[in-house]
Amino acid sequence: MERMIEVEGLARHFGPLVAVDDVSFSVSRGEVLGFLGPNGAGKSTTMKMITGFLAPTRGRVAVAGNDIARKALAAKAAIGYLPEGAPAYGDMTPASFLAFAARARGLGRAAARAGIERAVEQVELQAVLEQPIETLSKGYKRRVGLAQAILHDPPVLILDEPTDGLDPNQKHQVRNLILGMARDKAIIISTHILEEVGAVCSRALIIAQGRIVADGTPRELEAMSRYHNAVQIRVAAEGAEAALAGLPGVERVVALGEGAYQVFPTAGASITEAVAGHARAQGWEVEQLVVEAGRLDEVFRRMTTGEQDVPESLPAPGEEAA
Ligand SMILES: Nc1ncnc2c1ncn2[C@@H]1O[C@H](COP(=O)(O)OP(=O)(O)OP(=O)(O)O)[C@@H](O)[C@H]1O
Ligand SMILES: [Mg+2]
Repeated sequence: MERMIEVEGLARHFGPLVAVDDVSFSVSRGEVLGFLGPNGAGKSTTMKMITGFLAPTRGRVAVAGNDIARKALAAKAAIGYLPEGAPAYGDMTPASFLAFAARARGLGRAAARAGIERAVEQVELQAVLEQPIETLSKGYKRRVGLAQAILHDPPVLILDEPTDGLDPNQKHQVRNLILGMARDKAIIISTHILEEVGAVCSRALIIAQGRIVADGTPRELEAMSRYHNAVQIRVAAEGAEAALAGLPGVERVVALGEGAYQVFPTAGASITEAVAGHARAQGWEVEQLVVEAGRLDEVFRRMTTGEQDVPESLPAPGEEAA
């Protein structure tokens, strides 16, 4: 696979604050890398350094083989960047802003027209093309920024919270747009929406206090959860809790009420067969049995706060963990 983004030992200090601290990774064509992390973790700062908008204190970035410091023009030509927040130039209309962006990109008239037309269609901006950007709703401002990022069809996209402020339909649309573009591009997105990771990312980094604290596919990250391979069972049977707790590979059982139990395995073990087999052998009437893949929100919390999420009590089945 062709490595399109290479980041090595990247760091950025703001006075005494270490916003980004020795970050290294690479992204190849065909990959969508997610940046997850709490507010202030250093996601946007890292993106600004990758796109050449901010100089690093230490470290190196290469985009499409070009060092962002030494071959800035070639590197930037390969990048589409959606910064956080709304586009500058609020008094422009989307039409004039996109024309301006295309000129700044050095596109000729025909290429500019074709690129703008395609981008406007892809993010559905037609209805507001002649309305000043500052009067647009938050979601439309976001879409103007997205159109600007993709109008020159760059091989590398750096999108800082691309679905922030969009309505559910537009979120869906933008995720599909990203997935469609992913085949021949290298893409980084930051997000606070954990479902987005499974929906669009091939890999994700969890970042906390400027450092990468986890790196893996959505499945690998989920598998780090205490809920990975946990079994939720609802049975009408006397003594079920004690029986479940005595099964091999079972670490603990939490009663959820109304005959439902959450059965946690010892690290990584699979207990589905043990639980289902026992239920069969005992002739239990099983109303529901669900095996969990894991919960990204719990992994996120543990990795970014160090909080151990070993529940004493749990929400009712079907509800999200608090
Ligand atoms: N120009 C600046 N001057 C001083 N501190 C800054 C500057 N830019 C960012 N920081 C600080 O660097 C840290 C990282 O900020 P950054 O914007 O990268 O976080 P983030 O992960 O994008 O957060 P969010 O999820 O809120 O967007 C924060 O503590 C922020 O206050
Ligand atoms: Mg940010």
